[in-house]
This record gives sequence, C-alpha cells and structure tokens, in this order.
Amino acid sequence: MADSPSHPFLQGLSKHRGAPPTVVVIFGASGDLCARKLIPAIYNLGADGLLPAEFSLIGFARKPIPDDEFRKLAHAGITEFSRRAPTPEVWDRLAPNVTYVSGGYDEKAAFDRLAEKITGIEKKLGREVQTVFYVSTPPNVFSSILVNLGSSGLASKYLGQPHQSKVIVEKPFGKDLETAKALNKTINSVFAEPQVYRIDHYLGKETVQDLLVQRFSNSIFEPLWNRDFIDNVQITVAEEVGVGTRGGYYEQSGATRDMIQNHTMQLLALTAMEPPSSLDAEAIRDEKVKVLKAIQPLTVGPHGDVARAQYSAGLMGGKPVKGYLEEEGINPQSGTETYSAIRLAINNWRWQGVPFYLRSGKRMARRVSEIAINYKRPPGTLFAGEGAKFDLAANTLAFQIQPDEGLSLVFNTKIPGLETRTQPVKMSFRYAATFGSNTAEAYERLILDCMIGDGTLFIRGDETEASWKIYTPVIDYWRSVGRAGMDSYAAGSWGPPNSDALLAQRKRRWREP
Ligand code: NDP
Ligand code: BG6
Repeated sequence: MADSPSHPFLQGLSKHRGAPPTVVVIFGASGDLCARKLIPAIYNLGADGLLPAEFSLIGFARKPIPDDEFRKLAHAGITEFSRRAPTPEVWDRLAPNVTYVSGGYDEKAAFDRLAEKITGIEKKLGREVQTVFYVSTPPNVFSSILVNLGSSGLASKYLGQPHQSKVIVEKPFGKDLETAKALNKTINSVFAEPQVYRIDHYLGKETVQDLLVQRFSNSIFEPLWNRDFIDNVQITVAEEVGVGTRGGYYEQSGATRDMIQNHTMQLLALTAMEPPSSLDAEAIRDEKVKVLKAIQPLTVGPHGDVARAQYSAGLMGGKPVKGYLEEEGINPQSGTETYSAIRLAINNWRWQGVPFYLRSGKRMARRVSEIAINYKRPPGTLFAGEGAKFDLAANTLAFQIQPDEGLSLVFNTKIPGLETRTQPVKMSFRYAATFGSNTAEAYERLILDCMIGDGTLFIRGDETEASWKIYTPVIDYWRSVGRAGMDSYAAGSWGPPNSDALLAQRKRRWREP
C-alpha cells in the first residue's frame, strides 16, 4: 500500500480540527443506519484525512458477528452507499482497527467486555483515547444502553477533560413531551450535558449550515428579515419515497413526529432566530430555544393550525404505487399521517403577524426541501398603466436545501418591448455549479464535530422539549379523534386539499418548489 502525502490520515498524521485519538462505538451496528450512513461517513472522513491517526471503530449489537465478517459488512456498506468507492489505500488503513463486540444492550457483562476492549486499545497505543458512543438502535433500548454506559464507568471516563466520553443519540428523541423529558433525565443521570450530542441529520446538511452564513455574512438580507418586509415563510420537506419497509416504525410515528417536530423545526429555528452573540454552540442554541419558546400554542380541530393526510394510490415517475393503507405492515384503518402541514405564529418583535407554514410528506411530486421567504407584494400603482400588470409578483428568496442545493431570488423585471409589462424572473445560485457536487454527507460532518467536541449542530435537551411542547397537544388530539379530519392526496401530487385550505384561510398559497 502506498501512502499518499495528500492524505495525512494515511501518513499517520492528524491534520483536521484537532480530533484526539478516538474510538467510535456504534450500538446497533448490525442495522440499516450503520451500514448505509455511519460506516460510509467514517470511511469518507478517513479518505479526506479527517480522522485522527489513532482511530478505532467498534461495532456493538446482539447478533454474533466475527470481526472479519463485520469488516466485510462494513466494506460492503461502503461499496454500496458511500459517495466514494472504497480504495485499498484508505480501507487497508482503516480495516485492522475495525472490530465487533456482541452482547445484549441490557447485559452489564457485555459492557464490561467493551470497556476492556477500549482499555486494550489504550494499552496498545500507550495513551488515553476518547470514546464516542453512537446509539443507533431502535429507541426502546436507548435507556438500557445509557444506564449500562453509566454503570460500567464508560460514560464518566476522563470526565471534565477534552477527551471525555461523548454520546450521540439518534432520533426519535422521545415520542412526546413526557417521553422526551424522561429520556433527557436518563441521559443526564449518566452523562453531563456537554457530553451529549442529540443528532438531527438535517443540521449536518451543507445548505443548512450555509443558512447561517447567508443570513449573517451578507448585509443585504438581514435588514429585510422581519415582519416589515416578509409576508410569510414556507418550509417544505417533500419526499418521493413511501413508507417502504419501515411500516412498523412509521405507524407509531407519522409525518409530524418523524419530520416536522425535528427536521422542519430545526430549519425554522435557524431561519427565525436572532443573530447569536458568537458562533459558539451555546450562543446559537440559546437563540434557537428563544424562538421555539416564542411560538404560540397551536390550535387543533377544524379550521385550526394543522392539517394531516395519507397518500392514496397514484403514479410516481409514471409507475403506479400503492396507497399508504395498502402498504406492508400498515393497519388498513390506520390513523397515522404521511403528510402534515402546520401554521405557526412566532410572538416576538421580529415575527409578529408573519405566519410560518411547515409541510412534510411522503410520496409527493418531487423530492425537495426548501425554505421560501415570501416578501410582501409591492404596490402595483406605478406600473398600473395600459398593458401593465396590476398584480405584481411578490419577491421570494428560496433556500433549496436539497437536491440541487442553492439559493434563488424571484424578482420582477420589464419584458423587453415598447409596452411596460412586468414578469417575475428567477436568479439562481447552485452549489454544484460553483463548488462541484461531491460534498460531504451530513453524518460525516456530525461525527467529526462530535469527535472534536463541537455541539453547535446538535440539539440541546431544552430544544427538544420546547419543540415537543408545541406538537404534543396536536399528536394527542389526533390520537383522540382517530381518523377524523384525515385527508388524502394521490401519490405523486403536491399534497391534500386541507393543506391548501390552511393557507387559503389567510389568502395565501403554497409555492411550488
Ligand atoms: P434497525 O432497525 O436496523 O436496528 C439497528 C439494530 O438494532 C439492529 O440491527 C438490531 O441489532 C438492533 N435492534 C433492532 N430492533 C431491536 C429491538 N426491538 N430491540 C433491541 N435491539 C434491536 O434501525 P436503523 O439502523 O434503521 O436505525 C437506528 C436508529 O437510527 C433508530 O433510532 C432510527 O430511528 C434512527 N434513524 C434511522 C434512519 C435510517 O435511515 N435507518 C434515519 C434516521 C434515523 P441486534 O439485533 O443485532 O442487536
Ligand atoms: C429521517 C426520517 O429522519 O429522515 C425518514 O426518519 C426520512 O422518514 C429521512 O425519509 C429523510 O432524510 P433525507 O436526508 O433523505 O431528507
């Protein structure tokens, strides 16, 4: 194997923002997320020279898997899902440090074996290493894992030092306010808050981070970022995929828990927050929490602030697909929504009177996530002469989170000719055109940030609770009324009529991204 000088990791050096020697332990290592996202992310960090020179990966799950077999699974995951194909140059360096521990999540002896293994790595290296625990199991075992990390002494290892143990906790973070509080309590009985990294992978997306840069590094946006100029904000996270094989999970979740309460609310918080006093994690998280706490409680019931629906059979890319109620593992009488639309009011100086509309659905016309800032309509009087349009289009600034990441501005211009006629046109910036398209995946950024102890792109305990406080009454209400008020939309469409009605109540319409 020839080491390339362009890869410090391969030379046994550590370039990057100072990640100390690290062991990453993935709980649930036999699972889907590990193979599809986590191991490919770690591989790409290695390929980019961003892993510390002394790096080890330990998979932990109940299924007995020999080390060699786990390495093969890891390699297969990288081959199938990584943004780069594995090269021997990187893989041969990583593979010897990839091992597996089999055991129950509630089995203290298994955690003792894990602790011994980590101590063995330290002895071999002749130095202390930090451990990052990645909890990537279904949520019913989160607590057992956390408790065992506490009782085995792994959680408190090197506490208070930069290389103290850290824990990444996957979603869903509770299923309502009460369960989120209970989970926070369990976590904080074992780990100090600075050790805890609650993940929302949307925060690791390049464009989501760029939202802060766009807002606070350009003087043209911020002066107009308020109720004096903005009419409404629309946040859309639309997916083409249906529920697939995840029926068991999804039936207990639905779009509001799965997407709205976490991903779209994080987008809202970054869009609506005040400028933080610094880029320090706590300063940013303080501002996000302030916005979440300023949101007015939602009104449920007919003509309230919420709409829900399920997809019915339709066409995706010209091919027929089943409706939600016909999908595998779904109760034919299910009351679980695959689409959710919400109208939020933020009661603060900046946003008073500006509705924020959020929507997310599966099996929609197109996979697209965007934040659209819709400005107030300009007065049309000046161009009200013969041949002119009275109804000037409103300006829209749209951040396209994915795919085809970018930013566009819609503004009015004169149609060339002797008459004065106006037409809205779009000016676009696309990341791929300027910077190329092989950007890092969210999990790469987030795992690296945790290794270097930067919690900015993770969610603090009080943020999760502030968000659940908004949605728990909605979820409770829907549960209490069964299928009442459940609308439907054809797979491949832009959503149900009740969602359009939610905006029409205030004389607005969804923008088609
Ligand atoms: P899996 O269902 O694949 O489970 C991961 C592993 O956990 C399994 O391989 C299994 O390992 C163990 N496990 C599964 N069910 C149970 C159970 N009932 N009790 C105890 N152990 C169990 O999950 P994913 O990998 O899909 O997801 C992991 C976490 O990441 C979840 O919290 C999920 O919500 C979250 N997530 C997943 C995403 C994805 O795309 N998959 C996206 C975003 C978040 P073993 O039996 O060997 O112990
Ligand atoms: C996950 C949800 O959190 O996000 C899934 O559980 C959803 O249901 C996924 O499909 C969407 O993520 P992305 O990055 O593909 O937009």
